Order: sequence, then structure tokens, then C-alpha cells
Amino acid sequence: MLAVYPGSYDPITNGHVDIIERGRKIFDRLIIAVLMNPAKQPLFTLEERIDVLRELYPPDTGIVVEAFDGLLIDFAATRKADVIVRGIRYVSDFEYEFQMALMNRRLDERIETVFMLPSESYSYVSSRLVKEIFQFGGSVSGLVPDCVERRLKSRVT
Ligand code: PNS
Repeated sequence: MLAVYPGSYDPITNGHVDIIERGRKIFDRLIIAVLMNPAKQPLFTLEERIDVLRELYPPDTGIVVEAFDGLLIDFAATRKADVIVRGIRYVSDFEYEFQMALMNRRLDERIETVFMLPSESYSYVSSRLVKEIFQFGGSVSGLVPDCVERRLKSRVT
């Protein structure tokens, strides 16, 4: 089974890492699909986000890192994916995810969305909060992988 785990990954958090670890136990292959969204103003460029992910998941991990634009469902279909994986932290996530999953199913009913729960110790972690904490000088230690923390720090030194 091939699963696509899509996201902005701006930046990847330990919550994402947790879902990836859980996902790789269930699915034979996993593609981390990074959205290149020109409309959003990311902290990290697409190249930086891809670099970090490839550093964390080199080819021998069996995890493939790819960028995509346009519709997620089209990307998943071109890769012949069986499943789209999304992490759910709270009920509030569910409302948006539910809508997106049903819309994606309407667009291509061959591809199932699977919701996975991260460890409760990451249930409050989000890329948005990580960026905000970092921008105001707070510590993001333990919230993101070390290589992300280093990249964040290198921006202010
Ligand atoms: O990490 P994020 O920002 O929550 O990921 C959101 C993402 C990339 C999964 C979502 O924005 C997406 O799928 N974008 C691609 C455009 C698309 O397919 N839109 C229609 C969704 S029904």
C-alpha cells in the first residue's frame, strides 16, 4: 500500500514525525508530499523544506519526499497512491479534515483518506505555533527535529 502524507511542512514538527513513524509501520511505502503554494508566504522556501525532509528521510528509509502543486488528489492519483494520510489532533482539526477528505473522495473515490492520531504529547504542536514562538524568541526545543531547530537558529545568528 502506498500512502501520501501531504502538508505544508513549514516547518516539519515532531507531531508530523510521529505520524510518519506510525504511518511507515502500516503502509509499505510513504510519500511525503510538500505543497508548493505560491499564495502562502512560507517561513522556509520550498527548497529548504524539501532539504530538511530529505535530511530526515534519506532514500534508505523507504520514504520519498516530493513537492506538489495543484490538487492533492491529482498528485496522489499520478503516484498511484491508495491512501492519503492526515493527522488529527483535536476535534477542531476534524471539521476541516472531514470536509477535505469527502471532497477528495468525490474527486477520486479510489483513494481513501486515513486519519491518524499523533502521540498526545504532540497534540498541541503545530507549525504555526512553532513559527510564532520562534519569531518572538521562545524555545522550540522538543517541538521540532534538531535539524529544524538549527535552521531556525541560523536565521537569527
Ligand atoms: O499542512 P497543511 O497546510 O495543513 O496541509 C494542507 C494540504 C496541503 C493537505 C491542503 O492544503 C491541500 O491538499 N492542498 C492542495 C490543494 C487541494 O487539493 N485542494 C483541495 C482540497 S479538497
